[in-house]
Amino acid sequence: MEEKSRVLIIGATGKLGHHLAKFSLRSGHPTFALIRDSSLTNPERAEKLRFLSDAGATLLKGSLEDEESLTEAVKQVDVVICAIPSKQVLDQKLLIRVIKQAGNIKRFIPSEFGADPDKVQIADMDYKFYSRRAEIRRLIEAEGIPYTYICCNLFMSYLLPWLAQPGLKTPPRDKVTIFGDGNAKGVLIWTVSSFLF
Ligand SMILES: NC(=O)c1ccc[n+]([C@@H]2O[C@H](COP(=O)([O-])OP(=O)(O)OC[C@H]3O[C@@H](n4cnc5c(N)ncnc54)[C@H](OP(=O)(O)O)[C@@H]3O)[C@@H](O)[C@H]2O)c1
Repeated sequence: MEEKSRVLIIGATGKLGHHLAKFSLRSGHPTFALIRDSSLTNPERAEKLRFLSDAGATLLKGSLEDEESLTEAVKQVDVVICAIPSKQVLDQKLLIRVIKQAGNIKRFIPSEFGADPDKVQIADMDYKFYSRRAEIRRLIEAEGIPYTYICCNLFMSYLLPWLAQPGLKTPPRDKVTIFGDGNAKGVLIWTVSSFLF
């Protein structure tokens, strides 16, 4: 029988993290979610947590800034998956230190889930989006933590409907230019539709 991992998700109330937690549970892995107090007072997030809890997830109170709660959570699992927003990726530094000190983590998946930061070259136009992710990679490697980096490029089901302007309140009305006859084949990344809403 396949051995199951004990999985900690950080960001389980988020758009991607919630799916990661659901699929971890569906795959039969004992699943834990690190939850900030503020999530419990937000009705939408509280509903997501109720769903995960009913599905068997263990909710642990804590945050990326709270070393004690991080240590307690990390010690209970084998795998840590972080799905915090891209602008906060450097907030994973304390987590990396805690994982190193705990010494029990078999795999750490940092918050990336996009293009490969070691390959993308956008000179000074990405507000350090990729260099911050690369900085986190170098830290993980320097600490000798076992890792997997997930490079899935852009979730087009998330970006295409808004013409790459997530957060718009109404459908975009921008003029777009379609080259050729519009039938050129391309590879797009699809995510489950509920990620969108
Ligand atoms: N490839 C693509 O096209 C694509 C598209 C979207 C996202 N992504 C990637 O997916 C990852 C997740 O993004 P997202 O949009 O799903 O994020 P999100 O919806 O903003 O969710 C963020 C999650 O992180 C939690 N969080 C934030 N700060 C925290 C802290 N200090 N301690 C503990 N938890 C904290 C939030 O918890 P609270 O409930 O407490 O706020 C929430 O659960 C990012 O790396 C992003 O770049 C990729």
